[in-house]
Amino acid sequence: MDRNLGLELVRVTEAAALATARWMGRGDKNAADQAAVTAMRRVFDIVDIQGTVVIGEGERDEAPMLYIGESVGSGKGPEVDIALDPLECTNSVAYGRPNALSVIALAERGSLLHAPDTYMDKIAVGPKAASVIDLNRPVEENLKAIAAAKGYELEDLTVVVLDRPRHEALIQRIRRTGARIHLIPDGDVSAAIATAIDSTGVDVLLGIGGAPEGVLAAAALRCLGGAIQGKLLFRSDEERERARRMGIEDHSRVYREGDLARGEQIVFATTGVTDGDLLPGVRFRADGADTHSMVMRAKTGTVRTIRTQHRFEHEPAYRR
Ligand code: FBP
Repeated sequence: MDRNLGLELVRVTEAAALATARWMGRGDKNAADQAAVTAMRRVFDIVDIQGTVVIGEGERDEAPMLYIGESVGSGKGPEVDIALDPLECTNSVAYGRPNALSVIALAERGSLLHAPDTYMDKIAVGPKAASVIDLNRPVEENLKAIAAAKGYELEDLTVVVLDRPRHEALIQRIRRTGARIHLIPDGDVSAAIATAIDSTGVDVLLGIGGAPEGVLAAAALRCLGGAIQGKLLFRSDEERERARRMGIEDHSRVYREGDLARGEQIVFATTGVTDGDLLPGVRFRADGADTHSMVMRAKTGTVRTIRTQHRFEHEPAYRR
């Protein structure tokens, strides 16, 4: 796969981040999401791929753009699967909270799991602890194993958990182990990736978040040498039926990063929208804005951090 594709994808996530960042704190999550979707859709047209969206804004009948099954790209170049979230953490932008990102993962056709839009129970860690986690084991054992693998005292481990009532019992159990907890209002994609980057100080992500977000995180962790394990959790019979139509029958299956994002040609790009553990958000200036992005490839393990200074007077027509 063309190694320049990564840089092309960053331009797509940058465009979405710049468009949605203007909605920060304005209390309108739909407008924030729409801005990101429209900008991302527009810039995709100039990327030389024959892409099919497998994780997107929803089913064709509920999302007018970037829906599951939609073709994206210029129509030239490799045939690829695309998982995307133009705005991961709509509420974080709407209410000025952390961890919002614009995200795209790309891989060979047929290699990203068509995850249903349901919940997933997850555990994610960076490379040092990648071989010691097991979602089927009690949380206490996992934390002990992760601390040992990283050479820490359990009390020095930082566990990220989404701040949700459903996590009350989990939080109590983590507290009893002595580990530190970082509760986040939203954004378990950012948190999962942060486990694989030492400077973030984040060691483990635990708890229940979105299944599509699990696929996005898996693509990034494949590039970074980290690990994620997840089990689908269904909230209704309708969700179960939708999963069945997607070929998912075994509800007890633990998916690993290599099941969620297969293949060797994975490229992952993300741009920060609001400040977070992983990336700073968009900063506006008088004549433009700065963005911070990461782009990575599984084949080489290369991780690039890109700070871009955008000048609005030179903004290309396809971005306006
Ligand atoms: P959205 O971008 O769809 O708002 O997702 C934000 C998020 O926090 C994800 O990071 C997480 O996986 C999911 O929501 C958790 O779902 P819920 O808000 O229902 O607990």
